[in-house]
Amino acid sequence: MTKRRKLAAGNWKMNGTSAELGEVSALIKAHPAPGCDILLCPPATLLSRMAGQIGDAPIAVGGQDCHAELSGAHTGDISAGMLVDAGASHVILGHSERRSDHDEHDEDVRAKARAALAAGLKVVICVGETLAEREAANTLEIIGGQLAGSIPDLVTGDTLIVAYEPVWAIGTGKVPTTDQIGEVHDFIRLKLEKRLGAGVALSVRILYGGSVKASNAAEIFAVSNVDGALVGGASLKSADFSPIIAALEASG
Ligand code: 13P
Repeated sequence: MTKRRKLAAGNWKMNGTSAELGEVSALIKAHPAPGCDILLCPPATLLSRMAGQIGDAPIAVGGQDCHAELSGAHTGDISAGMLVDAGASHVILGHSERRSDHDEHDEDVRAKARAALAAGLKVVICVGETLAEREAANTLEIIGGQLAGSIPDLVTGDTLIVAYEPVWAIGTGKVPTTDQIGEVHDFIRLKLEKRLGAGVALSVRILYGGSVKASNAAEIFAVSNVDGALVGGASLKSADFSPIIAALEASG
């Protein structure tokens, strides 16, 4: 079986100013030699300071979005190259909040992912169904469509990370059952195998996201094909994120 290194990723969303950088120091101190990969995705305004603060410590830094173009007249937007320049190695793309707040569709996500890969970033591509879609028994169809439409061809097992984030579980405290998580993660692995071949697909990390916290992390990390988590609210404070990282390390 392919051994995938687990990944604990924190998505700070639109939270955090310089006052919160102390949380990063605490995290570095708590995990000097982590048994999993750690990624922090702060707001763009903090990227370069956070990357500088982390220095050689084993924590990667990522953006939360990028534009599909290299540069130009796109007021307020950030290019993949700018993220790299600020110290990022990863970028989250197609988060459900981008899809709903900014009307992003699969083809937009795919174009952004192409730009990110060309700039040398690893992409964390998010997929997930709404509650209405789950209740209509359309979950796998929705996830399949999002995967097919959002992932560009040129990915490798190293550059692609998929995050399954059911929209109804984000920030709500509601978490799918472990059976529901397992069903979707197994399905994602199968779809990746069909599309990219087993060699690539078995190296891709598939993260679960949506109300992950210290109290439910171990149970979620025991599910098949769960290679880590994309954590929102509980990634903001080292005291909350650190036990999730520890649970991931312990999951083997
Ligand atoms: P919460 O962990 O706050 O539910 O957010 C999950 C998420 O959207 C991470 O990208």
